[in-house]
Amino acid sequence: MALSLIVLAAGQGTRMNSERPKVLHPLGGVPLLAHALAAGRALEPDRVVVVAGHGAPEVTAAAAELDPEAQVVIQAERLGTAHAVAQARDAALPRGDVVVLYGDTPFLTPETLERLRAARSRFDVVVLGFRALDPGRYGRLVTSGDDLLAIVEWKDASDEERRIDLCNSGVMAADAATLFALIDAVDNANAAGEYYLTDVAGIARARGLTAGVVLCDEAETLGINTRAELVAAEAAFQARRRAEMIDLGVTLTAPDTVIFALDTVVGRDAIIGPNVVFGPGVTVESGAEIRAFCHLEGCHVSRGATVGPFARLRPGAELAEDVHVGNFVELKNAILDEGVKVGHLTYLGDAHVGEHTNIGAGTVTCNYDGVMKHRTTIGKRAFIGSDTMLVAPVTVGDDALTASGSVITEDVPPEALAVARGRQVNKPGLAARLMARLRALKAAK
Ligand code: UD1
Ligand code: CA
Repeated sequence: MALSLIVLAAGQGTRMNSERPKVLHPLGGVPLLAHALAAGRALEPDRVVVVAGHGAPEVTAAAAELDPEAQVVIQAERLGTAHAVAQARDAALPRGDVVVLYGDTPFLTPETLERLRAARSRFDVVVLGFRALDPGRYGRLVTSGDDLLAIVEWKDASDEERRIDLCNSGVMAADAATLFALIDAVDNANAAGEYYLTDVAGIARARGLTAGVVLCDEAETLGINTRAELVAAEAAFQARRRAEMIDLGVTLTAPDTVIFALDTVVGRDAIIGPNVVFGPGVTVESGAEIRAFCHLEGCHVSRGATVGPFARLRPGAELAEDVHVGNFVELKNAILDEGVKVGHLTYLGDAHVGEHTNIGAGTVTCNYDGVMKHRTTIGKRAFIGSDTMLVAPVTVGDDALTASGSVITEDVPPEALAVARGRQVNKPGLAARLMARLRALKAAK
C-alpha cells in the first residue's frame, strides 16, 4: 500500500533561544530533521512531505539536501498540528496511508514505526503512545482496553485525566483520505486556540471509526525543546552509537571520547583510537585503523589503511587498501590508490595519487589560485620529495621523482627527476669570517 510520510517542522522552537530553526540544530553531526527523515525512510514511503514554517528557506534547503525527493510545503501561520498536517494534503498521495512524524523527535526506531504501520490493519487511526515517568504537559491518551477513545491535551485535561500516565508521542498513522477528512472536522475551540491533530482520535470514534494505541519506550519519543535537552540527546545518541559499534565488533580503545555521526559506518575489527570525531558521510572498512585525534567527514577508508594520529580527512578523501596517512595530514577531495604513503605534515586537495606512491613530509598541493581550484595528478610508484609544492594544475608521471624543496609548476614526465629549486652554493670559510666580524662589532659597542 502507498505511504506518505509527513514530517512536521514548522515550529519556532522558541525555547532553543536561537536564530537557527530548531530542526536544523545538529545531533550526531546532522540536523535533527535528518533523524526523523531517516527513521521514516525505513518505512520506504512513496512520498515524503516536510512541513516548514519558521525559517522555511533554511529548512527547505536542508530538506532538499537530506532527501532530494522530499517535498516541502509551507505552513505560513502556526495554527496547530492539525493545521500543519492539512498543509501537506496536496503534496501527499491521495490514497494509501499517511504517517505523521515530528522533525524535533530524533530517536524513533524503524521497528517502532513498522509496528505502528502494522497496527493499521486493526485500527483506522493508530497513535504512538508511551508510559511517561513524568507525564508533565504531554497530551494524555484516554483508552478503554486496546481502544483509544480520545486524546486530551494537558491544557484542556481534567485533574483526573492529568493523572493518566499514557501519553501521546505525536506520531500517528491513518488512511490518507480518512485522515484529511477527520482534519477537516477539527476546530480550534480549546485552551490553546489551536487546531489540534490530536482531536482526530475522538472525531474518528464519533464517526464509528476505530482508533488504537501502539506503545513504545519513552526514550524513543523524546522531543527536543531546549538546548539542554539537545545536549542530553547528543550524549544519549553517542552512548547508543558507541554501544552499537562495540556490538558490531569495532575496537574502540576509549569509547567515551569518540564522536559518531548518524550515518557513520565502521567495519568489524576496525580500530578507532581515542578522541576521533566522525562528521557525516564516513565509511571505515574492516581492519582499518584510525588513530587518536583524527577528524573525518565525507570520506572512505579501506581495509588495511591506517590514519593518524592527528589527521584530517575532509569530504572526498578516498583511501584505497593499505594506504597510510600519518600525523598532521589533511586530505580534501583526494583519491589515494592502494599502498600510498603520506606520512607527515601534508596537504593534498583535489588530487589523485597512484598506487604505491610515497608523498614526502611537508608536501602541499597548491590547488587554489585565489579564484579557482585546480587538480594535481600523481602517477604510480612516484616519489614526491619532502617539502614539494605542487602548483596545480600539474601532473607527475608514473615512477617520477621530485627533489626535496621543489616548487613544481610544470608537468613531470614518467620516470623523470624534477628539480625545481635554487642550486646550492658553498662559500668556503665564509660562515666563520662572518661570525667573527659580528662578534667584533658587538664587543666594540
Ligand atoms: C504535541 C501534541 C501532544 C503530544 C506532544 C508530544 C498536539 C495538539 N499535541 O504537543 O499531544 O503529547 O506533541 O511531544 O498535537 N508544529 C507545526 N505547526 C504547528 C504546530 C506544531 O509544524 O502549527 C510542529 C512543531 O514544530 C513540532 C510538532 O509539530 O515539531 C509538535 O508541536 P508542539 O507545539 O511542540 O506540540 P506540543 O504542544 O508539544
Ligand atoms: Ca513539543
